[in-house]
Amino acid sequence: MFLGTRRFSYTLLIVLFSAATSVHAQERTVADGVFTEAQVESGKGVYESTCSACHRMREYRQVLRAFQNNSVMVLWDMLVSSMPADNPGSLADSEYTDIIAYILSEQGYPAGDTPLDPYNGMDEIKIIAP
Ligand code: HEC
Repeated sequence: MFLGTRRFSYTLLIVLFSAATSVHAQERTVADGVFTEAQVESGKGVYESTCSACHRMREYRQVLRAFQNNSVMVLWDMLVSSMPADNPGSLADSEYTDIIAYILSEQGYPAGDTPLDPYNGMDEIKIIAP
């Protein structure tokens, strides 16, 4: 009973919070400098050792197209839960984040001053295809 009530209020809080943030959300996309050059550098290293055996960089143009209009968080969640295919979830949160920065950079999107962060606004950054 107690647990049930608590779960309900968490859900309610999350709903209220999402409603509040979406009202104030700026329309930001992956083209707006949403990752740093340092993340790109770090992501490149992780990508080359953990992803490049199975994937070619040019595939990601299609991937971004497939995820178009979703938030970057949706892509991040997908990577965390399913990649690398031979050992899903084996990387640190920050490594998945840096890989996304690297992929976006390789697609021509610019780096900026603010790091991409799954715990800070990633769900408000929209994916657009290059
Ligand atoms: C052992 C091989 C392997 C490794 C290593 C691997 N992947 Fe994959 N990946 C796959 C396969 C196979 C699929 C296709 C899964 C499907 O579509 O059912 C896939 C699918 C994907 C997709 C979705 C493609 C789409 O069209 O939706 C993305 C994005 C992706 N991988 C990224 C990564 C990243 C980033 C890494 C490194 C962290 C990685 N993968 C490591 C084999 C691998």
